[in-house]
Amino acid sequence: MTNSLEGLKYMKMLVTGGAGFIGSNFVRYILEKYPDYQIINLDKLTYAGNLENLKEIEGYPNYKFVKGDILNAELVEHIAKDVDIIVHFAAESHVDRSVLDPFSFVKTNVLGTFVLLEAARKLGNKRFHHISTDEVFGALALEDSHKAFHEETPYDPKSPYSSSKAASDHLVRAYFHTYGLPITISNCSNNYGAYQFPEKVIPLFVTNLMEGKKVPLYGDGKNVRDWIHVDDHCAAIDSIIHQGKIGHTYVIGADSEKSNYELTMAILKTMGMSEDMIEFVKDRPGHDRRYAVRSHKIKAELGWQPKMDFDAGIKKTIQWYINNEWWWRRVKSGEYLEYYDRWYNR
Ligand SMILES: NC(=O)c1ccc[n+]([C@@H]2O[C@H](COP(=O)([O-])OP(=O)(O)OC[C@H]3O[C@@H](n4cnc5c(N)ncnc54)[C@H](O)[C@@H]3O)[C@@H](O)[C@H]2O)c1
Repeated sequence: MTNSLEGLKYMKMLVTGGAGFIGSNFVRYILEKYPDYQIINLDKLTYAGNLENLKEIEGYPNYKFVKGDILNAELVEHIAKDVDIIVHFAAESHVDRSVLDPFSFVKTNVLGTFVLLEAARKLGNKRFHHISTDEVFGALALEDSHKAFHEETPYDPKSPYSSSKAASDHLVRAYFHTYGLPITISNCSNNYGAYQFPEKVIPLFVTNLMEGKKVPLYGDGKNVRDWIHVDDHCAAIDSIIHQGKIGHTYVIGADSEKSNYELTMAILKTMGMSEDMIEFVKDRPGHDRRYAVRSHKIKAELGWQPKMDFDAGIKKTIQWYINNEWWWRRVKSGEYLEYYDRWYNR
């Protein structure tokens, strides 16, 4: 099946979860690169959604925000009527929270994706791009340093979060095979950058250090993740939307594996602090040991390459949190502090 959006000069997109971390970076990225495109941003504004992430594009004539739940089928069908594509970011996204409250993950990530797929099908098989994670593939052992996830790796999710994302990926693929819905899926590694909610490790550690607090490092600190700058993820999604093969999955990573200890030391060094600021804490239950991805397919087929080197990216990101204290101080409060106590004192 050909990608009907290839070569289109103008596009109208429904972006779900566009007030969150990656979604807001994506909305900004698209409107800067394609000033004529139109975007409708559907977001429920959970604790993780924040319209301050998009302050500078408020009032753009080709951008519209709709506050709503992706589970609201009537609303979704209404606003998706005229769009060329649905780009689906909305999710409950924090693994630790999925340990405390798995049901909200099943509702939004599985049922919410189902509602969007049904709308896309009923509205004449709309193009659908689904944003997913490398966590659906499970975990690699530290000793198997030559192994990495790729498009053919069998699914083996371990947390309520990754299982809910895996379930949603399967549903999206089923709509392609069963109804011919023109879908693509991307499974990306750990993102970092501006506007990430400070419950995730990089902004949590940077903001803790700015507050004079220690950083809580799980277990022995040896768990490994591949880190990709959010701008590189947005560029990858852009290439898949415009040129990706329908029905295909693309794995996205930056070949930038770091243990949590190495990541912590990089943050401490950049901020001029010592190892004394680390507090080793009880590990997350079922903490996947290592993730690594090989993104050969997207590089070979679509010519995408990550551009941001980790050392430069982490410095730029830390500087952003230093410059934007007003942003994170407002979100690192209220409900978040209650959750933080509940999780770290469990
Ligand atoms: N952060 C990462 O490192 C990473 C890596 C790979 C894939 N992903 C995937 O990318 C997507 C975005 O992740 P993120 O880190 O930006 O998440 P986030 O938690 O920062 O943002 C999620 C957004 O979805 C919105 N939302 C949640 N439930 C909703 C609902 N029922 N209806 C409408 N809106 C709802 C929230 O208000 C928020 O704005 C997710 O699908 C996630 O699984 C994230």
